[in-house]
Amino acid sequence: MAFAAGVCAQPLTISTAWFKAGDSKEWSNPQIDDSAWKTLDVSRTWDSQGIPSSTKFGWYRMHFTPTKAMLEQSDLKEVIEFDLGTIDDVDEVYLNGKLIGKTGNMPGDTGAYAAMFYVPRKYTVPVNDKNIKWDADNVLAVRCYSDNAPGGMFGGNVKINVPSRIDGCTLSFSETDSTNKPSYSVSLNNTYKSPVSGTLKLEITDAETGKVISNIEKKISARDGKPAIITLPYDRSKCLRIKAQFTEAKSGKTISGNYTPKYILTPEAPAAPRFNTAPVYGVRPGSPIHFRFGVSGDRPMKITSPDLPAGLEINPENGALSGSLAKEGDYTFTVVATNDKGEASQQFTIKVGNRIALTPPMGWNSWNCWGLSVSQDKVMASAQALIDKGLADYGYAYINVDDAWEAPARNADGTIAVNEKFPDMKALGDWLHERGLKFGIYSSPGDYTCGGYLGSLDHEKQDAETYNSWGVDYLKYDWCGYVHKHVNEADKKTVASYVRPYLLMEGYLREQPRDIFYSLCQYGMEDVWKWGDFVDANSWRTTGDITDTWESMYDIGFVQQADLYPYAHPGGWNDPDMLIVGKVGWSNNLRDSRLTPDEQYTHISLWSLLAANMLIGCDLAQLDDFTINLLCNNEVNAVNQDILGKQAKRDVEDGDIQIWSRPLSDGSRAIGIFNVGTEDKTVNLKDYMGTLGLKNLKSIRDLWRQKDLPTDDTSYLVLPHGVKFIKVTE
Ligand code: GAL
Repeated sequence: MAFAAGVCAQPLTISTAWFKAGDSKEWSNPQIDDSAWKTLDVSRTWDSQGIPSSTKFGWYRMHFTPTKAMLEQSDLKEVIEFDLGTIDDVDEVYLNGKLIGKTGNMPGDTGAYAAMFYVPRKYTVPVNDKNIKWDADNVLAVRCYSDNAPGGMFGGNVKINVPSRIDGCTLSFSETDSTNKPSYSVSLNNTYKSPVSGTLKLEITDAETGKVISNIEKKISARDGKPAIITLPYDRSKCLRIKAQFTEAKSGKTISGNYTPKYILTPEAPAAPRFNTAPVYGVRPGSPIHFRFGVSGDRPMKITSPDLPAGLEINPENGALSGSLAKEGDYTFTVVATNDKGEASQQFTIKVGNRIALTPPMGWNSWNCWGLSVSQDKVMASAQALIDKGLADYGYAYINVDDAWEAPARNADGTIAVNEKFPDMKALGDWLHERGLKFGIYSSPGDYTCGGYLGSLDHEKQDAETYNSWGVDYLKYDWCGYVHKHVNEADKKTVASYVRPYLLMEGYLREQPRDIFYSLCQYGMEDVWKWGDFVDANSWRTTGDITDTWESMYDIGFVQQADLYPYAHPGGWNDPDMLIVGKVGWSNNLRDSRLTPDEQYTHISLWSLLAANMLIGCDLAQLDDFTINLLCNNEVNAVNQDILGKQAKRDVEDGDIQIWSRPLSDGSRAIGIFNVGTEDKTVNLKDYMGTLGLKNLKSIRDLWRQKDLPTDDTSYLVLPHGVKFIKVTE
C-alpha cells in the first residue's frame, strides 16, 4: 500500500498517511505494521478529521518509492527533499528510522518548549545517503506534538523531489529603510551547494502610468550562503513594478518574480499645527480621563483651552487631558495648538454618560510583534516611539500588553502576580497616563490563557480590582483556557454558556471607579456580534487570529466581515484583529510584514472602512517611513474614526472587484475600490453609481494622496491586491 502517486513524475505527491495518536519511538521503525492505523489527509489538521482536540502526540507514516529515474532527471543530484507543508506545533521526522529533521522543541526535550506552527517544513537528505532505498519502499515517519488545538500536519500535500539546480534558486527582493537614498535589491539565492550562474533581466515600470522606465540585464552567479545581489536606487513617491527573470545558463530553465518596492502616498504633514483626532470623547461620570489631543506639527507646541470645563486640566507641553467630570452631559470647549509656524483650533466635546469608545480604539498591542516574549521594557520602547515618531499626534493612545505578563502562581491572598519581565505594573500605568496614553492588559476567563499563563477563572473580582489599582484602561479577555471549564455538554449547546463568563467579568469591571474598555476575544463564537452589547463590550473579535499573509487578511477582512456592518456602532465595534504592518513576528524574531505594499494599503483602507479597532501590531521602535505613511494619514484615519460610527458594507462584488462604502458624519461617503485579484484592473466608478446609490458626483477626493480628483474622469487603475480609496460628495 504505497501512497505515492506517479512513479517517475517529479515531485512525488502524498495526500494521505497512516496515523496513530500517542507516542512511541518504535513508530519510526520502517518494519512495524501500520496497516491497521487510521488514514488521515496530510493537508488538514487532525482535529478537522475526528481526532480529539486534546491529542498531544500523534505519528504519521507515509510509504513511498523514490526512483532512480527521479535521480536521473535531476541536473543537480545533490539531495532528496521532503516538503511537509506546516505542522502544528512541533515535529521530528524520520526516514527509515533515522532522524532527518526537527522543528520546534517538545516537552521533555532539552531547552524550553517552542511551538513553531507557522514555519514551513522542508527537510533534505543527501542522495548518496545509504539510508535511502532507491526503487523500493521507504517509510517517512513524522512525530508531532500539539500543545493545544489545532494539531498535526496541514498546509498542503507532502512533496518528495530530487531537485534540479533551478529548484534551489529563488529570487527575493528587499529594500533599505534609508530616508535619503532609498534603494531596493534583487537577490538570487541558491540553497544547494553547487553554484548556479546565468542571466538576470529586470524590467522596471511605473505601475500607475504603465510606462517602462528601464531594462537591465546582468550575468550573475550564486552559491549556498552567497546570493547574487543587485541594488538599485529609486524614487519612493513612485509606485514601481519590477519584473525579474533569471535564466540558468546550463539548463536554460527560468524563474521569475514581480515586486513593488514600498512607495509613499501620504503627503508630509504641515509644519503648522493640525488636529488629527475625532472631536468627541466618551467618559462615565466621575471616571478619570486620560486623553491626548492628537496634533501634528513642529515641536515645541503649546496646547491649551480658553474655556476648559472645571475639573479638567491640559498639559500644554504634550496635550494630555486629565481630570474628571461628575455630571452627565456634553461639555464642549475649544482647544488651541500653537507653534512657531502657526496656530490651529478644534471644538471638542466630552460626552459624559454611559458610553465610552465613541470611536474605535487606536493604539498598539504587543502580540503580533513580541508574542510571549513581551516585557515591560519592550512595551515602554513602543510607547516612547508612539510619541517620538508622531503616532500619538494621530490619536494612537492605547498601549496594550497582551499575553505573558502573568507569574506562574498567584500571591498567597489570591491576587494575580506579575512575572519578572514586568517589575511594576502600577508604575507602567502611571508612566503611560502622564503622557496622555492609556494602559491595556490581557487575561482569560479560563484557568489558563492561550499562551499557557494564568487566567482569571474564579478570581474575576480580584483581578478587576487589581487592574483598577494599576490604572488599567482596556481589558482583552480571551476565551482560550475557558474551553477546559466550559461546563457540561448540554450547556455547551446554549448561547448563554458562551455569554456567561463575559457577563461575569463585565459586572466586576463596572464596579471599578474607572472606565475599562472591554475587548472580547473569543474568535466570533456564537455570533458574538449579536450579544456583545448585552455584556457591555466595547469590541468583540469576530475571527480567529490574523497573520501577515494576503490569504489571512483577505479571509478575515473581506470574507468574514461582509455581513457584520449592522452590528458596529459608537461604543461597540467589530474587531477583525490587530494590524499586520511593520515588523511583526510573534516572537523575538521580527521580520517585515509579508504583505506587499499594495496589500498593506488595502489592509489599512479596509480596516478604516470597517470601523475596526486600529491596534498596531508591530514594534514601534523599528517603524520605517512607509509604515508611518500607512498609519498617519489623517484623512484615511478620519474614516476609521468618523463619529457616525457606521461600518462599511460591501456594495459591489464583481469578479475581482469589490467596492465597500460607508456613510460619514459630514454627509459624504468613503469608498474603497479593491482589486482582490492578481491582474491589473481598470474600474470606472460611473459604472457602479446605481449599485452604490450615488446620484451625482460633486467632489472626489483621493484619500491616500489627499488630492481632489476630477469628477468627469472616474476611471481608476487598481493594482493587484490594491485599492483606490476615495471620499465622495453628491
Ligand atoms: C489568542 C488571541 C491572540 C493572542 C493570543 C495570546 O487566542 O487570539 O490575539 O492574544 O491568544 O496567547
